[in-house]
Amino acid sequence: MILKIVKYPEPVLQQPGEPVTEFNEELRKLVADMFETTYASQGIGLAAPQVGVSKRVTVIDLSMGKDPAQKLVLINPEITFREGRQYEEEGCLSFPEIREKVARAAKVRIRAQNLEGKWFEMDGEELLSRAFQHEIDHLDGMLFIFRMSGLKRDMVLRRIRKMQREGTW
Ligand code: NI
Repeated sequence: MILKIVKYPEPVLQQPGEPVTEFNEELRKLVADMFETTYASQGIGLAAPQVGVSKRVTVIDLSMGKDPAQKLVLINPEITFREGRQYEEEGCLSFPEIREKVARAAKVRIRAQNLEGKWFEMDGEELLSRAFQHEIDHLDGMLFIFRMSGLKRDMVLRRIRKMQREGTW
């Protein structure tokens, strides 16, 4: 089922998600729906707060549905190591049409639980590292506009207000 993606400034986007404690059918359904919603929006990742569910769940698929081996489910994820710096354009499904450069760590290591509740570790570089950081930020209620310079953020917020007035946001 394709879920509705909430847009900024929906309050759920800025609330920290609750840790997942039950690895049940409801969780599996949420994750399946989140992948379907990501593909329908041509995204590479989605966090549960973006579909109005304040839980520490995120899905990532850099292949956008083309390669099942690239489907990643991160439950209760955390970054355990970060190194270097990258500065590339980033977007977010809760900010349609907004793309701006954001500074991120070049490499990160994460630990997370899978759908069975088993902990695993994974390293990411480049785009995967960026996706890990962007999605885990969502679970802490942190949005990418708050990782931009103040000048860029003001520009983006003005664009959003203009679109809101025009009824296109
Ligand atoms: Ni996002």
